[in-house]
Amino acid sequence: MSKGSYYITTPIYYPSAKLHIGNTYTTVAADAIARFKKLTGYDTFFLTGTDEHGQKIQRLAEAKGVTPKKYVDEIVADIKDLWKIMNIDYDKFIRTTDDYHIETVQKIFKKLYDQGDIYKSEYEGLYCTPCESFWTETQLVDGKCPDCGRPVEKTKEEAYFFKMSKYADRLIEHIETHPEFIQPESRKNEMLNNFLRPGLQDLCVSRTSFDWGVPVTFDDKHVIYVWIDALSNYITALGYNQENDELYNKYWPANVHLVGKDILRFHTIYWPIMLMALDIPLPKQVFGHGWLLVDGGKMSKSKGNVVDPTVLVEHFGTDPVRYYLLHEIPFGQDGLYTSEIFIKKTNSDLANDLGNLVNRTIAMINKYFDGTIQAPTAKEEIDEDLIKIALEAPTKAEKRMDELKIPEALDEIWALVRRSNKYIDETMPWVLAKDETKKERLGTVLYNLVESLRIVSVVLSAFLPETSQKIKKQLNVDLASWDSIASFDGTKAGTKVGEGEVIFPRIDVEKKLEELAKLQEEQKPKEEKIEMEPIKPEITIEDFDKIDLRVAKVLECEPVKKAKKLLKLKVDLGGEIRQVVSGIAKYYKPEEMVGKYIVLVANLKPVKLMGELSQGMILAASDNKESLIAVNPGELPTGSKVK
Ligand code: MSP
Repeated sequence: MSKGSYYITTPIYYPSAKLHIGNTYTTVAADAIARFKKLTGYDTFFLTGTDEHGQKIQRLAEAKGVTPKKYVDEIVADIKDLWKIMNIDYDKFIRTTDDYHIETVQKIFKKLYDQGDIYKSEYEGLYCTPCESFWTETQLVDGKCPDCGRPVEKTKEEAYFFKMSKYADRLIEHIETHPEFIQPESRKNEMLNNFLRPGLQDLCVSRTSFDWGVPVTFDDKHVIYVWIDALSNYITALGYNQENDELYNKYWPANVHLVGKDILRFHTIYWPIMLMALDIPLPKQVFGHGWLLVDGGKMSKSKGNVVDPTVLVEHFGTDPVRYYLLHEIPFGQDGLYTSEIFIKKTNSDLANDLGNLVNRTIAMINKYFDGTIQAPTAKEEIDEDLIKIALEAPTKAEKRMDELKIPEALDEIWALVRRSNKYIDETMPWVLAKDETKKERLGTVLYNLVESLRIVSVVLSAFLPETSQKIKKQLNVDLASWDSIASFDGTKAGTKVGEGEVIFPRIDVEKKLEELAKLQEEQKPKEEKIEMEPIKPEITIEDFDKIDLRVAKVLECEPVKKAKKLLKLKVDLGGEIRQVVSGIAKYYKPEEMVGKYIVLVANLKPVKLMGELSQGMILAASDNKESLIAVNPGELPTGSKVK
């Protein structure tokens, strides 16, 4: 019987670049919670997806020379692959470019406009494109975006505004009377004191400076602000205001929106106010987790310290990565990733504690009983503590998960794993095996270990699904329901266990660290490569010899009137003075050129450019974009040949 519905969401990710271990963290945490709820009898719906509109994506696509849709399609495919390798079992993946989403966002915007919550005015402000956020002068830190530290741009445009202030008091009251709404507690105070109590300004909710967004149906110069578009995903995905709204009726309001602390403001202020204006219930909880930091702080491409989860999975498998994320970061606080702690934890908790327990148990059943699990007919007092801990583990883990204390829930499972290892040391099966009269007792000890492992595997299925599956396969027990672990007798005597297989091989810490460090080095941004023009057809040395290249020194330089791109230079070519007109005005100021030694194509047929005679051409290197540098031959005597 279902215990009721449970709806959990992750933020929808910007498909602007490949996701890193930090974004993966949110999704793995949501996956573990969703799986746990499913396991314990809830009718669960787990939503994730991508937030595809906005100026940043449009600019990235333009720089790459593709349409925004093509640009995001590729990254979204990568993101879906990443979720596959991380074993993410979502129920739905929403893309904000999906038609149903766009239509519903348009309906939402129109409704809010019709009822007067959205109105048209003019906006003048400072905009941070990477964060898609407007700021006031006072909010800036050192003149830069307070969220990401990058420069902001002055923008002035006709825009629609949302009357946030109208709902502020109601929201403050809601937050104060629902202490569970913003979690953890410290974040609640931050939202109230830093944003809500100082007074809310109306929010600018449309843009005209770019067009990669959801158009406002009644004013198509405008696209809808990307956060209004994005936040709506939590209800559009369920069919809100659509023909088939069965999921919406079943799952809304969400039990929890899981988000990083950096986007808590959007989820606990803008989103609830949007919902109040739409007259629909607020989510029960918004949980703001901390940041996953790496050596050197926040991950960033330019620092070259971005940790790619696919590389880790390739080297260590999925579950060590899941385990690290779920266990090593206190849920709600910042946590650190280092390869060293990662490998050491994999060795100690997974290979030593869990892997060994499985391995020893299976090996002993194979060795002493030809692989057959015996009936537990020779119980002793010493078994009771193990059985007690085994039976308590699931309920304790459940309690921890109800509070979203994921690492602590795993601790409850590991308490049983460690207790089981201790039980082996206490009962010493290898000693029992030497005494024929202790055979029945030996069978009972091994039965108890199998039963403990079965319980471990069931609870663990929410966190490390692959490992759970492997344990079940080796034990060859198929009882996997939550109810089946309420008693310590689920394993059938007579069951043949499978082959003993090492689940987590021990890792050579030094060797792997070296390998990873090398990979990291390779990932560091290299000098930017340019799009290379095709090499021209082959020429002979005689062809080349026709070009007479000489060292020359610039004596005078001035702009050419009415020609923005051109400079006029007087150069000394071994005593002969020539006039040259060159298209380098974008890159050099006239005074910068004076005194420079350059390479001149000295036998080029003279031409007139903008009425000025040009007797030669200056050699320069260019990336065809931003940079051009005149070739510098050093201060050789003017007239020297360049060969
Ligand atoms: N598109 C918005 C969310 C819209 S939700 C309606 C967005 N996208 S994001 O791709 O930039 O970030 C998605 C999530 O990844 C955020 O919750 C953010 O906190 C999280 N993380 C990004 N880097 C992170 C770490 N280093 N550590 C933990 N989480 C991090 O914001």
